[in-house]
Order: sequence, then structure tokens, then C-alpha cells
Amino acid sequence: MSDQGIVASTPYVSLGHRHEELSNRGWTVLTPGEFAHDVAGTLHEFGPIIPQFNGQIAFAITRKPGYEDLPYSQSMNGIGPHTEAPVYGPPPRYLALHCHKQATCGGGHTGLVDGYAFLRSLERSEPELRKWLDDTPVEFVATAKPGEPAQTRVREYILTPTEEGDIFRFSYNQFHYGDVNPSKEALQQSQVADNDSPLARFAVLGEAYFVEHNIPVLIPDGCMLIWDNWRMIHARSRYTDPARHLTRYWLA
Ligand SMILES: [Fe+2]
Repeated sequence: MSDQGIVASTPYVSLGHRHEELSNRGWTVLTPGEFAHDVAGTLHEFGPIIPQFNGQIAFAITRKPGYEDLPYSQSMNGIGPHTEAPVYGPPPRYLALHCHKQATCGGGHTGLVDGYAFLRSLERSEPELRKWLDDTPVEFVATAKPGEPAQTRVREYILTPTEEGDIFRFSYNQFHYGDVNPSKEALQQSQVADNDSPLARFAVLGEAYFVEHNIPVLIPDGCMLIWDNWRMIHARSRYTDPARHLTRYWLA
């Protein structure tokens, strides 16, 4: 009882500088000492953990059989630039990747780029296209798991202002193959190549911006990467080390 002067001491780690990094540059990395044995409690300081496509709150990012030919999280393939879950209204505010075992093959980076900065660059270089984005909603489709019939389909603007902040949506897989999680059949034909539509041009410019400006983060073992999914575009580089193992969380 505290009134008897005996208080159980809980170690307290201030995460103020991590919140600052997250809001200033859109991403941060927590060291193991900053969340120690309480991943969920620490994440909760950034936002409530919400269910993912499969209904679970913790999703394993590691190689699973059956996805060898797909740009899917549970394959070892690269995944093009995107914001997470654009079919959600709203998409998860923050994403967290807790790294148990990082790839040692030279791949497996999480690339990050500021989507707001990309849109600002378009205001200068492509004002008509930038206006088209404000005037035209875009279709986003998500198959929860490649090859399964259930799909979520929405029309959303690339940038949606809200009281909590602007929501930016981008998906290489959507723009090229018509689904956030495309099937092997859909991968045969890109809808961006040889297409002069504004959306195809936006996709090409977004990919080029990502390639030029992204920061490739190789999350160290035991650490946790958190980023603002309303602002940042992310992607994954291909890897070959089957031991790579991360856990993904979505925060509201
Ligand atoms: Fe992702």
C-alpha cells in the first residue's frame, strides 16, 4: 500500500522521443529495452491494436508454403510500394513490425517514403494530375488472402482529409494488377504498362519517387519498427533467408 510507503516499482521507459520521431519523419524504431516484455502495452501508447484481414491482432510475417509466386507478405518475394489496407475506412493509422529474426541474406528491407512529400512534389511538377487526384475516386480491391474468393471493394480518394489527419492511399499491386493481393493469373498482365490514363501515370510517378527517395530499413533482431500508415508508403525487398520472422500489428 502506498500510504505505508511501500510501492512496487515498475520500470518506466519514456517513449517521448519515439513519438516525436514518428510525428516528425513518419517512422521510428523501438529498441528491445524500450518495450521489453510488454509489446502490446507499449504499442497501446501509440494506438489500440485492431484486427487484420484474417481477424487476428498479431500476423506472422514469415515464409509459408503456397505463396512462392506471389507478392504476398508470407512469401519471400519483394512487395511493391503501398500503404497498408487501403480498403479499410479508415486504414490502420500505424503499422508495427516486431522483428524476431531478420534476414541475413542482404534482402528483407522495409523501404519507407513520405507520401505527403510525393503529393507535394506533384503539385509542382504535375498540377493537372494532382487536381485529377482530388476530383477522382479510385477503386481499391482486397482479396484477404491470395486465391480466396472473399473480396473487399471500395472507391476512395488517393488523399482523404479527416479531422485526425490526411489519409493517403497507394498500392502498386492495385494499380498494376487490380487487387492489393493479386492472384497468379492477375499478375500476367499489368494495367499500368502501355496505359496513358491519369491513374497509370500516377502509379509510374509514385514508383519512381519511391525508388529515388525511400529509406531501406533492415529492422534489427528484437527491435520494432513503427510508421504512420496514413502518410508513409512502404515496400519490402525480396529475401532468400527462410529464417526471417516478424510479427505485424495494425494500430487504429
Ligand atoms: Fe504492407
